Amino acid sequence: MNQIVLTGFMGAGKSTVGKILAEKLALPLVDIDTEIQSEHQVSITEIFANLGEPAFRKLEHQMLTRALLQDAIISTGGGIILSDDNRMKLEAADFVVYLKTSPDTFLARLKGDTTRPLIQEKSRDEIIALCESRTKLYESVAHLILETDELTPEEIAVQIKQAFQTRKELL
Ligand code: S3P
Repeated sequence: MNQIVLTGFMGAGKSTVGKILAEKLALPLVDIDTEIQSEHQVSITEIFANLGEPAFRKLEHQMLTRALLQDAIISTGGGIILSDDNRMKLEAADFVVYLKTSPDTFLARLKGDTTRPLIQEKSRDEIIALCESRTKLYESVAHLILETDELTPEEIAVQIKQAFQTRKELL
């Protein structure tokens, strides 16, 4: 298949890089969070507030399952790797990329954000701890781990495209 899944913590740049990559490879972009919101006509914040995180995770799992049926660039939410089921699906996916960012980078990007329920009213240290608790999970399903702090979204997309095409040639 022609499928690239972007993973990483909140603020890693998955959606931005996903858009560029989709253009470069002429593939549709499936942004899991955007799809959930448009299909259910409700924001992520409202889902968390009204139905709770487990309900969001269920919708996220359904959307990932559907997205993985097609050729696409798939941009995931930062918590996609939390479920065993999702990780099994990602292990079987074509090409999974972990966009790895340092705390300084993601904290700067997340400053003032009001759209991500899991970081509201959390301290710097709590957000860093949340990221650290997930690092091994991101790594465990990634075919490619890219440290992105020093790279522009365009440079990240170029590197992913090259790695993807090299892998395709080798397989
Ligand atoms: C989440 C990340 C968010 C979104 C939701 C939960 C998480 O996506 O799915 O708020 O658990 O890390 P982004 O990573 O695109 O911010």
